Amino acid sequence: MVSRSQPFIPWARPSLGAAETAAVVDALESTWISGGPYVDQLERDLAALLGVAHGIAVSSGTAALHLALLGAGIGPGDEVIVPGFTFMAPVNMVLAVGAVPVFADVDAGGWCLDPQDAARKITPKTRAVIPVHIYGNMAAMEPICSIARDHGIAVIEDAAEAIFSRQSGRYAGSIGDIGCFSFHAAKTITSGEGGFVVTDDPDIFDTLRQLRDHGTSRTRKYWHDAVGHNFRLTNVQAAIACAQLARKDEFCREREQIYRQYVAALDPLPQVRMQSFPDGVEPVVWAMPVMLEPGFNIDRDRLMQRMADAGIETRPGFYTPGAMPLYDCGPLAVADEISRNIICLPIYPGLDAAAIERVVDTFRACITGSGLARG
Ligand SMILES: Cc1ncc(COP(=O)(O)O)c(C=O)c1O
Repeated sequence: MVSRSQPFIPWARPSLGAAETAAVVDALESTWISGGPYVDQLERDLAALLGVAHGIAVSSGTAALHLALLGAGIGPGDEVIVPGFTFMAPVNMVLAVGAVPVFADVDAGGWCLDPQDAARKITPKTRAVIPVHIYGNMAAMEPICSIARDHGIAVIEDAAEAIFSRQSGRYAGSIGDIGCFSFHAAKTITSGEGGFVVTDDPDIFDTLRQLRDHGTSRTRKYWHDAVGHNFRLTNVQAAIACAQLARKDEFCREREQIYRQYVAALDPLPQVRMQSFPDGVEPVVWAMPVMLEPGFNIDRDRLMQRMADAGIETRPGFYTPGAMPLYDCGPLAVADEISRNIICLPIYPGLDAAAIERVVDTFRACITGSGLARG
């Protein structure tokens, strides 16, 4: 076992350098610290890169989802299909607009929304589906969009964990009616807090812009046409995001290298299963999830504690909604099982080969050693 005296390895760490500092200083010196030119630049450049007509910078990924639901006209009495394995922000935002989240299971290999189960959950009240692209993988967008088309419901992609991942050449977030992204500090591109919404639909775009900005009229100052929010990203935050965006290729390359080193070391172990990516998906891996094979009966939470004792931070898989009293969700065979058994290992630009080796050695020693059996 690795000794505690070695440096702490966090689970995630943003890579911020001279370019981000210069951009922030520039934004500050310009005195444009609320809206400003970096917001415009970010909206233009990121939308163009993702191949969508319109992009809107917002204050968080959660705000992006809230806005997207409002933009799609979702409200009280509506049902929205959500995956049973996800960070809960999309589910919470469905509840926040007064609608009902209806949970569908995820697929056993890639851990994203299972289109067949989503189809089974459609009722006359269903108005939207939110495929969440989990850990950098992408949900099967072709069948999901086809089901949505057949039933006349909106597709809101949650690409918070999968910015720059592609499926059949198309970027996550650019395929459905509306796509949402997060720039939280742990994400692939960060502005501290922040988010982004994309759409090709000019009417949805107008609604999103208006609702981001207090619901005020585009033509008449202080005139409110709708109940809106202040979901704006600041120019200072956008300056960081623009500098990060310019480093996109570096971030994607590093994540890919780290992912490959982990897979080479861990995939051969019978105790673990890696997330699988369907044909046609080119992932930009966000977290580094590893699933413990249930047959080995390894207690994930005790494993996390052992890793922490060795100075290595990890994260559990998302809890299944059925386990949380807040949500009305029955059993989901796949989500229930994977949520208990996933552990996410450190991954971030700058995590070097020696540190990865230390994580792998510690992890391997823990899962092949004794004392981790579930009671
Ligand atoms: C899938 C998913 N959706 C939404 C969010 C919310 O983003 P934010 O933290 O920027 O509000 C996150 C992560 O934070 C996420 O992982």
